[in-house]
Formats: sequence, structure tokens, C-alpha cells
Amino acid sequence: MDGFEYKQGDLYADDLLIADLADQIGTPFFVYSAQGIRSNFRRLQSAFGQRQHQIHYAVKANPNLGLLACLSKLGAGFDVVSGGELTRALKVSNPEDIVFSGVGKSEEEIRLALEHNISSINIESAAELKRIQTIAQSMNKSATVAVRVNPDVDAKTHEYISTGLKENKFGVDTETAIGLYQQIQSLPNIKAPSIAYHIGSQIMQLGPMIDAINKVLVLVDQLLELGIVIKHLDLGGGLGIRYQDENPPLFEDYVQALVSTVDKQHPHLHISIEPGRSIVGNTGLLISKVEYLKNNSGKHFAIVDAAMNDLIRPALYKAWMNICEVQQNDSKSRRDYDVVGPICESADFLGKNRSLAIEQGDLIAVQSTGAYCSSMASNYNSRPRPAEVLVDGDKFHIIRQRESYNDLFDREIIPEFSAS
Ligand code: LLP
Repeated sequence: MDGFEYKQGDLYADDLLIADLADQIGTPFFVYSAQGIRSNFRRLQSAFGQRQHQIHYAVKANPNLGLLACLSKLGAGFDVVSGGELTRALKVSNPEDIVFSGVGKSEEEIRLALEHNISSINIESAAELKRIQTIAQSMNKSATVAVRVNPDVDAKTHEYISTGLKENKFGVDTETAIGLYQQIQSLPNIKAPSIAYHIGSQIMQLGPMIDAINKVLVLVDQLLELGIVIKHLDLGGGLGIRYQDENPPLFEDYVQALVSTVDKQHPHLHISIEPGRSIVGNTGLLISKVEYLKNNSGKHFAIVDAAMNDLIRPALYKAWMNICEVQQNDSKSRRDYDVVGPICESADFLGKNRSLAIEQGDLIAVQSTGAYCSSMASNYNSRPRPAEVLVDGDKFHIIRQRESYNDLFDREIIPEFSAS
């Protein structure tokens, strides 16, 4: 919980009482700590010391413009994976600080990237290279690209968020990469000064990250032998955070591992990283109200007003997210609850068997919801998505209004029907 703490049993975000925020905003809502975000970003930044580097925040972790603006002010660039994310990033950032990753870029997305002259398009197939060359030529533009390599390294994380194994759809193997760099030499509208990779997310060990760099450095040497000079490595994101009792590497150790591995062999290579979760994951809470408590044959349920549409990670990855009381009170009876939402699915749980001292009407906080929570929220069961609030010291900003019922069907069209 970066930026959140209990004072005499009451949970605060920076200097503000969460219970007061709930009174003003209603529930459920996401609350983020600007101080937590700044502190994480600055620690990561300063771990590089004087070493040249760029940090491209992975927008998919949390794309709210309020957070992007806060990160841009701190000096972050952005890693985007869709035209929508690119358009968001362009609202707060210079195009030359944006890189575009992703395995399936459409023609429209490539055109948008080229129109704005973004820093790099990270390509993932021969077919994509061909598409970019055709579009760049038609626009009379020069495209700067990196080939995303799949280093076939096991990131030792959940199978759904592992991306660097050869059975994953991402990137190309090193043989193919060499072929693509050779082909690029003769493409008039393409420059490829970089290699990119990303082996997965919520990574807890430095070993796989170092293995991946070493494999990519072999590729740098192989290309050099062919007369192809690589100037820059995009090392992806993936550093994990603590949700329960995990011990992720510290920023300082992570950066030291990356930098020393690269510098041992190629100290002149420029490097960039694409962190998402490690910057914002622990700087957010989902605040929800207990609607009902109920006991089914000895099994206790806390039915709250947030649900799997707001927070899909427990249902999708069986992710464990910590749940705590917003106001601690020892006089309330403590029980093990399954904390569930109102959605008509048994997968609709935020946490199971959680020891909580709560009553109907109390507030709970789901921790570590800064990354991959609001960005993965949906309107399932026609539930409006929650408000999002950024607390900064003793002030707060509503950075996304709660959706209204009208927002749910505003774009729907009822055709004329005849009775027959
Ligand atoms: N760069 C690329 C190309 C990526 O695909 C990702 C994440 C990142 C950077 C940022 O990774 P991070 O530093 O946040 O680990 N929804 C899942 C996580 C999916 C991550 C997808 N790619 C979850 O809730 O755990």
C-alpha cells in the first residue's frame, strides 16, 4: 500500500480520510495516491543514477489521463498497445516519448503512429513489417521500428501473463529476427535501431530477466557481424509487486541487474524499460460498501457493492488481493468471509475466506488495485463503472466520473419494429 496508511484505526490516502472520500463520492470507487506514484517513479528513476535510460510507462496498467499526466510531469514516456492508448498518451506526452507494442496493429493504428512520428513501432512479424513499409511509403514517411524478439525464457509467472516463451504469440524467434533486420536494410522507409522484448508480468525473480538480456545481447553481436548496428534495447516491463507475502526484487536491485548485464558487454547501448504494475499497482485501492452479510449453512458471505466487472483479476487469474476494513473496530465480531459482489456468477468474488471485522454498511478496501483493475473493468450485468479519484496530499481530484445508467446505453440504437 504505497501512499495509504492507518492512523488510529482509520485508513488514509495521503492526508485524506477514506471514509470522508466515500461520503462525498459514493461507492464503489478507485482511489490512487499521487504521492505513492511519485515516490515509486522517482525511486525507479534514481536507481539508474547517471546511466542513460528511458522509462516508458505501460499505459495498459492504468490508462487514466489523470495518472498519465502525473507520470508525464515526472518525466515518463509511454508504451501503448492500441490506437486508443496512443491517442490517450498523445494527450499528455510528446510523440517522441511514445513506443507502440502489440502483436496485431491495424492499418489505421499504424497510420496514426506514423502521422505523429512516434519514437518506435515494435514489430512482431514479417507481415507487420511489410504492412508498415507499404503504409510508410504511401505516406512518404520514414518509420522507426524495433523487432520484438521472443527470447524463449520462462518468466515463472501465471501462464496467462507469460509472454516470452516460444509457445506464446508474442515476438519472433532470433533466427527470424535476423532475417527481418537484413530485410530492413533494403527497405527505404524503415529504420531499425532497436531490439525490443518483454517476457511477462508479475515477475518475482531477476534470473529470467538476466537470461533474456543475455540472449538478446547474443543477437546484438550476431547482427553486428552482419554489419547491422543496434543502438538501443527496449527491455520491456514485468517487475512484480507484493499482493500477499511475495518478495519482489527492489527497484534498485532490478535496475542494477539490468544495467550491469547490458554494460558488461555493451555499455554504449541505450536502454529503456516499460514498467506498469510496479509503478502504480500498489498505489490504488478499490473502496466498496458492505451491502449485506449472510450465512448459508455456516458459510459467511459479505456481499459488497463492487464486483467482478470492477475487478476481474480474482476471477480471471485466481489472483489474491488483500482486503481490509476502512475503519478498524475491535468491538465488531470477526469472521472469515467470502467477499462477493452482486453479479450472477459464482466467479464473482473479490476474495475468499478473509478474516474481517465488519457490519452491514461498513467500507472495505481491496488493496493493490492501481494496475490492471480499472483498466480491465467492464459493464457486465449493466453495472456502471466506478469513479476514480486521485488524492494528492490534502487534496483530491475526481479523475473519472462514475458512469451513469444513461452512459450504459447511450450508443445503442433501437430499430423501428413492425408488429408482425
Ligand atoms: N510491455 C509490454 C509489451 C507488455 O505486454 C506489458 C504487459 C508491459 C510492458 C507491462 O508489464 P508490467 O510492468 O505491468 O508487468 N492483466 C494482467 C497483466 C497483463 C500484462 C500484459 N502486458 C494482470 O492483471 O496481472
